[in-house]
Amino acid sequence: MGAASEISDHYSQGGLLARLETSLRDDGVDPESPTLEQLAPYDHFHGRGLEATEDMANRLPVSAADRILDIGSGLGGPARYMARRFGCRVSGIDLTAEFCEVARLLTARLGLEDRVSFREGDALAMPFGDAAFDGAYSMNVSMNIADKRALYRGIRRVLKPGAWLCLSEVAQGPGGEPDYPQAWAQTGATSFLATPENTRADLEASGFAVESLRDSTEASFDFAVRSRAIVRAGGKPPHRAVILALGERAGEAMANSGRALRDRRTVPVEFFCRKAEP
Ligand SMILES: C[S@@+](CC[C@H](N)C(=O)[O-])C[C@H]1O[C@@H](n2cnc3c(N)ncnc32)[C@H](O)[C@@H]1O
Repeated sequence: MGAASEISDHYSQGGLLARLETSLRDDGVDPESPTLEQLAPYDHFHGRGLEATEDMANRLPVSAADRILDIGSGLGGPARYMARRFGCRVSGIDLTAEFCEVARLLTARLGLEDRVSFREGDALAMPFGDAAFDGAYSMNVSMNIADKRALYRGIRRVLKPGAWLCLSEVAQGPGGEPDYPQAWAQTGATSFLATPENTRADLEASGFAVESLRDSTEASFDFAVRSRAIVRAGGKPPHRAVILALGERAGEAMANSGRALRDRRTVPVEFFCRKAEP
């Protein structure tokens, strides 16, 4: 089995749409006509869910005329959020066929298919023309990709001159290797964590000028405290994407994730950069 199929097998176990629809009904939501907000606990598959997407979007220079690329678009929550918030067009690319199918269906149910599209494919072989996009973002994807410079060079090729790239990822922290499974990988064989220093060096070597680097560890702790309080009060956790996608593997992955964050073995970071001129 190649790395790509091992990665998509990790994310996809079949039956995703049925599980999502069951969860929505359990929330009292009609799965045929959900709102963006009702889907948000499930379709933002990264730490802090919708809250992290909103935080990132607050910092992005997007206008309605822009074409944006979402690398590793998953179930499409971030792409639909960007399209609705900014009125822009968003193209997603993702390795996992089942995620792309569900992403398209949810997009149609929200009536956003004229502005948001998804292609099944490998971000290392970007299926878009040169200088096609005004900006690109990626949320919790690069941890699955070993050849970071090939990834960044491919993104750079499809960006217009001066376009931005926002990279939100789990970085390798100073505390040592995390335990597996994690939400993005069953074992270390498909996990390629980079330190923030290495990511900066790889971005710069691939033709990006890094403008800012943020560490959202404190925001993650704060989110965890609020989530636990909601659950203690009898509510559902606000972020349920890992449970939806990984099913019974989710509990161990989330416990490992919490420990790794606490021990600084992983650090959630966000790079904002611009395509630099050669
Ligand atoms: C943790 S999920 C994040 C999904 C989405 N970015 C989000 O935040 O909701 C990671 C995603 O990266 C995708 N992925 C991993 N490696 C990839 C690659 N080489 N090319 C495209 N997508 C990839 C997976 O299929 C999965 O959908």
